[in-house]
Amino acid sequence: MVAVAILAAGRGTRMISSLPKVLHRLGGRSLVERVLLSLGDIPLERRFVIVGYGADLVCQELASLGGAPPLEFVEQPQQLGTGHAIQQLLPHLVGFSGTLLVLNGDVPLLRPQTLELLLKTHHQSESACALLTAHLPNPQGYGRVFCDEQKFLRQIIEDRDCSPAQKQNRRINAGIYCFRWRDLEQILPQLTSNNDQKEYYLTDAVNYLDRVVTVDAEDYQEILGVNDRQQLAIAQDILQVRIKDDWMRRGVTLVDPGSITIEDTVHLEPDVVLEPQTHLRGKTLIQGGARIGPGSLVENSCVQANATVLFSVVSDSVIERGCRVGPYAHLRGGTQVGEGCRIGNFVEIKHSVLGSGTNVAHLSYLGDATLGQQVNVGAGTITANYDGVKKHPTQIGDRCKTGSNSVLVAPITLGADVTVAAGSVITRDVPADCLAISRPLEVHKPGWRPKSVLPTPDPE
Ligand code: UD1
Ligand code: CA
Repeated sequence: MVAVAILAAGRGTRMISSLPKVLHRLGGRSLVERVLLSLGDIPLERRFVIVGYGADLVCQELASLGGAPPLEFVEQPQQLGTGHAIQQLLPHLVGFSGTLLVLNGDVPLLRPQTLELLLKTHHQSESACALLTAHLPNPQGYGRVFCDEQKFLRQIIEDRDCSPAQKQNRRINAGIYCFRWRDLEQILPQLTSNNDQKEYYLTDAVNYLDRVVTVDAEDYQEILGVNDRQQLAIAQDILQVRIKDDWMRRGVTLVDPGSITIEDTVHLEPDVVLEPQTHLRGKTLIQGGARIGPGSLVENSCVQANATVLFSVVSDSVIERGCRVGPYAHLRGGTQVGEGCRIGNFVEIKHSVLGSGTNVAHLSYLGDATLGQQVNVGAGTITANYDGVKKHPTQIGDRCKTGSNSVLVAPITLGADVTVAAGSVITRDVPADCLAISRPLEVHKPGWRPKSVLPTPDPE
């Protein structure tokens, strides 16, 4: 039986932020959400989150995630240290006789396999505690771990309490522990704050325990903590390399991977090609043969097979098979572009549905519009969907053609096969098979000149 506790009460002073540290985002998720995800499928009896600074915000963020067993938020009203944080569990775990897995809310890159190994080692060694450690090239800031040859712990010493010689030890405490709760429960009330920071250290409890085994993380990058913005950026890079390597192994081409970012909520099919400076976010699906970029941002959208998106921004939209979008298009707000459409430069489409084979090739705005199949929207056609108070719909039938610089004032419906003359402002519904034209009659005045340049009349 395993209960997990995530330490998430600290403010994270070094972030210099009004947001609690554990809510800072890394690849589309908060740090603390990532810590929860690192538990993978480990069977858990209870899930505790210790909250304090910004407790309301942290609870709100996590409550929306669901998962089982339900999260139990335990408030640590004053943040007096990691040991003090775990002391808050005492009334909640009376009579519990299993394992307490402790995770730090600011260590977001752990893999489930690493935690499984820690748990397994804890059980097999029948230790009072198993402690995750790693060898860091730069151990500055971390507690140093001193062990005997059998990897049993001698002592953890916090960085600020280390002598210069002790600081040379590059083996660090990851802040991740498996405790036999019965043993920890005895020691927690005895912790003192006799240290440089005047805090109750959880590491002191570990030092008091009798049999503590250490487990080295194979990949030290997993245990890197986020204490400031630089470490956040480093974690971001590590996460991106992981995600991108994974997609490349699964048949996706990345041109200049260093310039591309992909959140781990994105799904890609084999034979997708991502060109430089492309960013994929949120719940996005890109199907096989699609080509995104260079220079595109796609979020919460689906791009179907063999479509291309070039130098464009797409959010909350669906682009069906074989479409060509861009350069410089902006699709948003629940737009659905049918099969084989072409959306060209400087076109914005919001909350609209386009039938297959429809073209909007240049300089248009379509908002709240429904277009049939094989419509040709002329350069500069605008749907005037907003009267200053409300948004209104526009319907355009199959095979309609709108002339350049035409304005369709919504609410309005054009039947099938309508042609709108260039420069028209159309305010009334147009039945099928019509030419709609609305513009002042063109007048040509032969020989006319502006007054100022008229030649002086000859006196004779
Ligand atoms: C801690 C460890 C250190 C280890 C490092 C790994 C202690 C004393 N030191 O140091 O050995 O190398 O983690 O990252 O444990 N928190 C609370 N309540 C508090 C204080 C902290 O919930 O009163 C939470 C923080 O929000 C954070 C986590 O505990 O998520 C770690 O706290 P932090 O202050 O970052 O500890 P470190 O100095 O990094
Ligand atoms: Ca830390």
